[in-house]
Amino acid sequence: MTIRHFLTLKDLTSSELDGLIKRSIELKQMLCSGELYQPLQAKVLAMVFDKSSTRTRVSFETAMIQFGGSSIFLSPRDTQLGRGEPIEDSARVLSSMVDCVMLRTYEHRNIERFSQYSQVPVINALTDTYHPCQLLADMLTYVEQRGEIKGKTVAWIGDGNNMCNSYINAAQQFDFTLNIACPPGYEPALFAQHSNDSRLALMHDAKEAVRNADLVVTDVWASMGQEEEAASRTDAFTPYQVNAALMALAKKNALFMHCLPAHRGEEVTADVLDGPQSVVWQEAENRLHSQKALLELLLVDHC
Ligand code: CP
Ligand code: NVA
Repeated sequence: MTIRHFLTLKDLTSSELDGLIKRSIELKQMLCSGELYQPLQAKVLAMVFDKSSTRTRVSFETAMIQFGGSSIFLSPRDTQLGRGEPIEDSARVLSSMVDCVMLRTYEHRNIERFSQYSQVPVINALTDTYHPCQLLADMLTYVEQRGEIKGKTVAWIGDGNNMCNSYINAAQQFDFTLNIACPPGYEPALFAQHSNDSRLALMHDAKEAVRNADLVVTDVWASMGQEEEAASRTDAFTPYQVNAALMALAKKNALFMHCLPAHRGEEVTADVLDGPQSVVWQEAENRLHSQKALLELLLVDHC
């Protein structure tokens, strides 16, 4: 069997992604009805975290427990990888013992290097450039709440960061329109490669981006690793706050999403985050169900 990695949404086809969303809904229903389903008995997931996490760690760990397998949490403080053992060597060793490796790290190039030397599937649990697992949960949440996302309009407001790049991938894979509103100088790196795609639009006006949107999404103004830039970013990003006035310009039944953790009063006001259009708690829970579908796709032999 060929090894499949999940480093970006482009590693699965559109129809595989649609199937994964449908399967997430089935797995969620099976869990709710108390059905025991343990396709990963005796399988082990190594979880390498170079950055902090609540949702990603707990959802992957719970997914493995529910599937009958187990996981090992590895932080740079405790591993030789953290002391400078080469990525390629670490990939060879880890993947000779476990069945899957999940990595959260800084440079995207490092997870690509790891995957090239891994004998088992590698999952991107966030890099500086992409956060594809979060997009699986976001797409699942939209489909559950409103049906198909194909043909809909999504407004990305704020930083052109890892989440924004993954939204660009999602617009292409799930076929929706994506209006991106960023402050000048904070545009997503991936946009330039796809600027001819009519589904993608880059602008500097948040109001223009949300007009007619079915879904409004934002994220923190300073991502992990950018803490020292926080103060300078606040000035640039203040006009991009998602508040009630901005949400009022979107469609009446528009949803609001945020991958969390959120900063109330900065990128989003409390009344929006905790308000009726927000589906952030469903979105967070759906990390579990969508990643179970991903683990099943990558690890269970369907032949
Ligand atoms: N959204 C997300 O990835 O959250 P964590 O950083 O808590 O994993
Ligand atoms: N853009 C954020 C996402 C956190 C889940 C970060 O990289 O810190």
